[in-house]
Amino acid sequence: MSALADTLDRAEVLICCGSGGVGKTTTAAAIALQAAQHGRRAVVMTIDPARRLADALGVPGALGNDPVRLDAEGAGELWALMLDASTTFDGLVLKYAADDLQAERILANPFYRNVASTLSGTQEFMAAERLHALHHDPRFDLVVVDTPPSRNALDFLAAPSTLTRFLDHPLFKVLMLPARRGFRVLNLATQPILRSIGKAVGGEVLADAIAFFQAFQGMETGFRSRADEVNSLVRDAGVTRFVLVASPRADAVAEAAFFASRLSDYHVRVSALVVNRSTPSFGDPPDTVPRAAAGRASYDNLVRLNTMAGHERDNIRKALGRLADAATWVPLLAHDVHDMASLEAIRFHLFEATG
Ligand SMILES: Nc1ncnc2c1ncn2[C@@H]1O[C@H](COP(=O)(O)OP(=O)(O)O)[C@@H](O)[C@H]1O
Ligand SMILES: [Mg+2]
Repeated sequence: MSALADTLDRAEVLICCGSGGVGKTTTAAAIALQAAQHGRRAVVMTIDPARRLADALGVPGALGNDPVRLDAEGAGELWALMLDASTTFDGLVLKYAADDLQAERILANPFYRNVASTLSGTQEFMAAERLHALHHDPRFDLVVVDTPPSRNALDFLAAPSTLTRFLDHPLFKVLMLPARRGFRVLNLATQPILRSIGKAVGGEVLADAIAFFQAFQGMETGFRSRADEVNSLVRDAGVTRFVLVASPRADAVAEAAFFASRLSDYHVRVSALVVNRSTPSFGDPPDTVPRAAAGRASYDNLVRLNTMAGHERDNIRKALGRLADAATWVPLLAHDVHDMASLEAIRFHLFEATG
C-alpha cells in the first residue's frame, strides 16, 4: 500500500499543502473522490477564493460556504464547499454571544462588518474553525482541505494562537477596561493611546472599533477554548494528516522544500508526498537504435522523456530526501482537469497506477 493510500485510510482530516499551481486543488478533489468511491462520506473544502475547486469537480458556477453534495459513483458521498470567512465568523459570534442582543450588536457593528474579517489571521482562524466544525459534523467522516496558493498558507496552523495573541493585546485590554468600569464609550476618546489611533484611522472607525470590543466582552473565554480545541485537532496525528503536493520542475522543487521545512517548524509531519505534473517514464529504450527515420524519431523521443523523468526524480530526491522514497507520481495529462472524467484520471494515478 502506498504512503498516500495508508494516509487516507488513517486520516479523518487530510490537509493538502504546497506551492501555487502544483495541483493542490486537483489532488484534494481526487483524494475526496477516492474516499467517496470507497464508501466514505467525504467533504472537500477549499480556502482558495478562485473557483478552481468547482472547476476541478466540474461544478457549474461557484461553490458556497455550505457543503453541496456532488454526483459521484460509489458507495460513499462526495461533498464540496468554499470557505467564506465572514459567514464563519458570524457563526462563531452567534455561538458564543451571551444573548441575541449581544450577537446583534456585534453583527451590525461597522468595524466588525468591514474590518474584522480582513484583520491578519482572521481568514486562517476561520479556516481552522470551519475544519473543526466539519470534523464534528455527523454528515461526514472525512474532511479534505485544499489550502490557498500563498506561501503563508500554513498560517492557519498558527492561527488559533494568533487570535489568542490578539485577545492578549494591550490595546484590547485598554478597550475593555472602561466598559467594565461603566464609562461611556465617548469618554474613551480622551485616552492618549486611543486619541493617537483615532488620528490614524479616523474617529468614526475608532468609535466603531471600541463599540465592537465592548460588545465582544464576555466572549473571549468561548473563543479561547475554541481556539485550543482547533489547535489540538490539527496537531493530532491520529486524526489529521498532511499531504505535500509538489511539481518536479527544478524551481517548484525548491518551493516544496520550503513547505516541508515550514511544516517541520510547526512540528507537523508530512505523511505522504504527491509529485504531480511529472514526465512519465516508459522504461529502458531497446538496446539497438532503429535505422528507419520514423523508428529513430520515436526512439530519440523515448530517450529524451526518460532523461527528463530521471532529472525530475533526482530533483525531488535532492530537495526532499527521505520523503521522496514513498512519493506517489502523477503524470502531466494532455488536458487540464476540469470535469469528473479528468478528475477520475488523476484519482487513478494517485491510487491505482503503479510507477
Ligand atoms: N496531472 C495534471 N495534468 C494536467 N493538468 C493538471 C494536472 N494537475 C493539475 N493540472 C492543471 O494545473 C492547473 C493547476 O492545478 P491546481 O490543482 O489548481 O493547482 P493549485 O491548487 O496547486 O494551485 C489546473 O489548470 C489543473 O487543471
Ligand atoms: Mg488551488
